[in-house]
Amino acid sequence: MESPLPRTILVTGGNRGIGLEACRQLSRQGHRILLTARDLPGGEAAAAALADEGLDVRFHPLDVTSEASITDLQQFVEKDLGRLDVLVNNAGIFLHAEDKGITTLKLETVRATLETNTLAPLRLCQAFLPLMRKQKYGRIVNVSSGMGQIARLREISSAYRLSKTALNAVTIMLAAAVREPDILINACHPGWVRTGMGGDSAPRSVNEGADTIVWLATLPAGGPHGGFFEDRQQIAW
Ligand SMILES: NC(=O)c1ccc[n+]([C@@H]2O[C@H](COP(=O)([O-])OP(=O)(O)OC[C@H]3O[C@@H](n4cnc5c(N)ncnc54)[C@H](OP(=O)(O)O)[C@@H]3O)[C@@H](O)[C@H]2O)c1
Repeated sequence: MESPLPRTILVTGGNRGIGLEACRQLSRQGHRILLTARDLPGGEAAAAALADEGLDVRFHPLDVTSEASITDLQQFVEKDLGRLDVLVNNAGIFLHAEDKGITTLKLETVRATLETNTLAPLRLCQAFLPLMRKQKYGRIVNVSSGMGQIARLREISSAYRLSKTALNAVTIMLAAAVREPDILINACHPGWVRTGMGGDSAPRSVNEGADTIVWLATLPAGGPHGGFFEDRQQIAW
């Protein structure tokens, strides 16, 4: 069953970077966006700026590493929105200063990175899959990274790579567990993008970085399930 338009789409880490751009592009397609962020003033301002353009964007607080924050969001979605068609797990961290070689890497750096980049997306999928199953419709986009591809694993930036390899594994396992025909779960690599995380030297704009996320978020019935995509093309895990 196709979801009625506008679709209700939740984006994590929507206050800046690729997440904000995904909110912009999806709302310009006419969808109803729940822009979430842990940064309350930043999230409110980002949502208000899009709403001022006449777009259907509202803000709700979400720290993806907080169970209480996820429970609060889940209750808001169920009571106030009544449905959730698309979950974009975009929020992520890359602890550049601490995330060095695997032989010296502190486990606290690994733990913190896994909490945000891997466990939080898993927890959010668990929180919203029951609603998607009830609706018989859902799209989940896990924003991963090419740095997590098995063939590209290196000894530098180890915590970040581990977290994204593990997020890819989460995506594969969730897709294997969820076999409903119109629930599609995929991961993507946005490319190297000019954001707080990507830095100023990155070749891609946020516009380009958000493209595959938006494409996966709005896949038609029968679209791919359990894949990893860059530039709308499947890539190796
Ligand atoms: N930029 C790239 O080149 C690149 C390449 C490959 C993959 N990616 C992935 O793309 C995604 C977006 O990255 P970006 O480049 O847009 O990074 P960014 O500009 O650094 O933005 C990261 C976003 O995640 C949010 N976030 C971090 N921890 C959070 C938490 N606990 N709860 C809620 N939000 C949290 C940040 O919120 P605050 O503002 O509160 O910190 C911010 O909104 C990430 O998953 C990243 O790994 C990026």
